[in-house]
Amino acid sequence: MNVLVTGGAGYIGAHTCVALLEAGHTVIVADNLCNSKVESINKVQQITNKDLTFYEIDTTDEKAVDTIFSNHEIDGVIHFAGLKAVGESVENPLAYYYNNLVGTMVLIKACQKYGVNRFVFSSSATVYGDNRVPFVETMDLLPTTNPYGETKAMSERILTDIANANPVFSVSILRYFNPVGAHESGLIGEAPNGIPNNLMPYVTQVAKGKLEKLRVFGNDYPTVDGTGVRDYIHVLDLAEGHVAALENLTEGVHVYNLGTGKGTSVLELVKAFEGANDIEVPYEIANRRPGDIASCYADASKAKRELGWTAKHDLISMCRDAWQFEKNYKE
Ligand code: NAD
Ligand code: UD1
Repeated sequence: MNVLVTGGAGYIGAHTCVALLEAGHTVIVADNLCNSKVESINKVQQITNKDLTFYEIDTTDEKAVDTIFSNHEIDGVIHFAGLKAVGESVENPLAYYYNNLVGTMVLIKACQKYGVNRFVFSSSATVYGDNRVPFVETMDLLPTTNPYGETKAMSERILTDIANANPVFSVSILRYFNPVGAHESGLIGEAPNGIPNNLMPYVTQVAKGKLEKLRVFGNDYPTVDGTGVRDYIHVLDLAEGHVAALENLTEGVHVYNLGTGKGTSVLELVKAFEGANDIEVPYEIANRRPGDIASCYADASKAKRELGWTAKHDLISMCRDAWQFEKNYKE
């Protein structure tokens, strides 16, 4: 298939480009590089020894998007492009609503104009809000605590309404749990701008000595050791999940959790990281982070049943690959 990957220079997008190329698909990337570098495109080509086509464009730019659709016979779209920093979305909600919603609608419009009927969307477990774990796709969604989360819930709604109105438009909504790790080559991985918000990149930067110590946000949650529990999933598994979703897409709207189904606490992750890499991660207990929930993990059985997909990498390989990338990474 000829696959348009928006946000393909980013963390999850680049790993998915590798998986798509390795599965024999042709890849066209559209990315404005607002949170990535063009080098990741070169690295994808280096890893796979295959070429892809790259457009530096903004997905909110209708003309630029139209040009891509007129230049290529696109069979399907995987839409990663979006802003994703939760705190920033609270400070600048308009940027988030505009970028994430307009970008999605411009792409859908182009799909309709050019008769492209396969669309895979990056959603997030954040749409479940503070539901009972494990999160199941059939649950009623609860409000998220921030504009970023709302853009995901709204995009899901927009895509669902459009697919309901146009039954040949096939949509796969993928709700990611907590993507971590990197390609085992150490060439592509997660390189957040500034001080990381998320746990794994924070841990790797503490291990590297870039940051002094980890602050563990709360140890009084009703969890195994009081610290927050999440479902960490290796980005390579997530990438494979996209290929499976695209290749198995049938008419209608399909929602899938992409997680391992296993919860890990902050302290369990720190211990696993220390053990996997034989390195110390100093930490202190701090206050809870506003907006955090105690536990979040997937019921991942639907993706297994319908897509034949399951996460294969364990926590140790997530920790090892995340560290391998951090060690190699130069700003
Ligand atoms: P990322 O920031 O590394 O990648 C997003 C890419 O999109 C970047 O390369 C950025 O330059 C590009 N982009 C953003 N706005 C754009 C626009 N208007 N036009 C063109 N390109 C644009 O993030 P990621 O972690 O790879 O996340 C990919 C997607 O998955 C996002 O939609 C994100 O919200 C979603 N998601 C991520 C996580 C996570 O923890 N990483 C969890 C759930 C969902
Ligand atoms: C974050 C996002 C969420 C997004 C998800 C997946 C926030 C508030 N939420 O959630 O919208 O869908 O990533 O990308 O950013 N932790 C620490 N110290 C740190 C960092 C994190 O103790 O320095 C803890 C957190 O309290 C949490 C766990 O580690 O218990 C994981 O945190 P994080 O990686 O930020 O992911 P989420 O909280 O799941």
